[in-house]
Amino acid sequence: MVAARITVNGKETPISPAAPHTTVLDFLRERGLTGTKEGCAEGECGACSVLVARPGVHRPTDWVAVNACLVPVAALDGQEVVTSEGLATADASGTPAVLHPVQEEMAVRGGSQCGYCTPGFICSMASEYYRPDRCAHAGPADGTDESGGSGEAGESDGSEHGPNGFDLHALSGNLCRCTGYRPIRDAAFAVGMPAEDDPLARRREQSAPPPVATRYTQDDSAFLRPGTLADAVRLLRERPEAVVVAGSTDWGVEVNIRSRRAGCVVAVDRLPELRTLHTGSDHIEIGAAQTLTEIERRLDGAVPLLAELFPQFASRLIRNSATLGGNLGTGSPIGDSPPVLLALEATLVLADADGEREVPLSDYFTGYRQSVRRPGELIRAVRVPLPLSPVTAFHKIAKRRFDDISSVAVAFALDIEDGTVRKARIGLGGVAATPVRALATEAALEGRPWTAPTAEAAARVLRTEGTPMDDHRASAGYRSAMLGQSLLKLYARTTEAVSS
Ligand code: FES
Ligand code: FES
Repeated sequence: MVAARITVNGKETPISPAAPHTTVLDFLRERGLTGTKEGCAEGECGACSVLVARPGVHRPTDWVAVNACLVPVAALDGQEVVTSEGLATADASGTPAVLHPVQEEMAVRGGSQCGYCTPGFICSMASEYYRPDRCAHAGPADGTDESGGSGEAGESDGSEHGPNGFDLHALSGNLCRCTGYRPIRDAAFAVGMPAEDDPLARRREQSAPPPVATRYTQDDSAFLRPGTLADAVRLLRERPEAVVVAGSTDWGVEVNIRSRRAGCVVAVDRLPELRTLHTGSDHIEIGAAQTLTEIERRLDGAVPLLAELFPQFASRLIRNSATLGGNLGTGSPIGDSPPVLLALEATLVLADADGEREVPLSDYFTGYRQSVRRPGELIRAVRVPLPLSPVTAFHKIAKRRFDDISSVAVAFALDIEDGTVRKARIGLGGVAATPVRALATEAALEGRPWTAPTAEAAARVLRTEGTPMDDHRASAGYRSAMLGQSLLKLYARTTEAVSS
């Protein structure tokens, strides 16, 4: 097996002697690439953002921004990384001489003060700068828009998209403590299109580096990346104590903040069998290792309830690495995807060395961070049955609109025919030791007319579902109140749509 190595700013570098738990952030900084900063070390500030070449959704390669503080460097064996230092064009001596267009806009529009957050913003912005479907909907490289306007920063339609197609959600995982976000937004909305000879734009036309089967060991610990599902489940049978990771957005926090170490980490995020996404006659199958960004872009709104979930799930930086399998695998009672998948009546395909079995998500969770998943078993895919219920909503109640943990989350999927609720499925998070279905509320809705008295009666039932607790995020009373309000809000929205 070839020694583990990573290509950083075009230069191939051996990963050894880094320890298997060493993050990409520490690896880069120890090699002098100190533009990549540590702010929080838990995926919440974006100071550590770097670009990774990944298989593209619309082109062979996408430049994807990820949190370098969360990803073990061994997970990028054989992969290509670009840091803020690698974006500028170097002179003959290798010194960065000409700023990248994103860097230029940030500089001239005052998007940087102390500069601590700036390299992270630059990498997140560069990822969006190179997003192919942004390019398809924006003006030419000189910054003029299609109507002949100047494309001047701030001339957006008032939404979170600039006149250049720039989606501000690309920056939702980046925090700045001193600039104020207006100049940063101005810079984002002012970038033009990549020039034809832009090396990173051209790199998108070639295949991304394939996954590499990795066996990286130092002292008594190992980072292992099996090449196939069969290899993975065999390995997990031999090493049931192994920590299974996909995007490392959860495990990376454990390593950094709680100083946890594992003797063996097994990465499953590039297993081809976990990377499926197809629509059959009676269900959509989503591979457990598709990242949330990939699912969002590949489904392109085909499952409206998932489309409503994604912008509220952490940040773009996290969604670029996090997977549905990981969110379900941790068994957290406040994960954002379980309420939605419960409302969609999803099932999980679990795989081990003996084969596969399919388990309804409603039967999957058995207790706090516990499930029916056996030692050595992997979540291979999530199946969403078809047809979809037409009336859906996801309400996440949190202290911040984006990049926050929910106090309570509610997902609805209703079939309403001729003014009567034929079927109701409601998933809840944050009100019990596990995500739960609101069965009593579903029963209070089904077979009844979709009217204000029905919604009010069902909202009273919904307030009593689960066993919400008082904690630092919210009181039990607040959580119960929000459950009821959430159903009334859905009713108001559906009737507004009818009357308008
Ligand atoms: Fe804050 Fe990585 S250091 S997200
Ligand atoms: Fe100081 Fe952003 S410029 S933190």
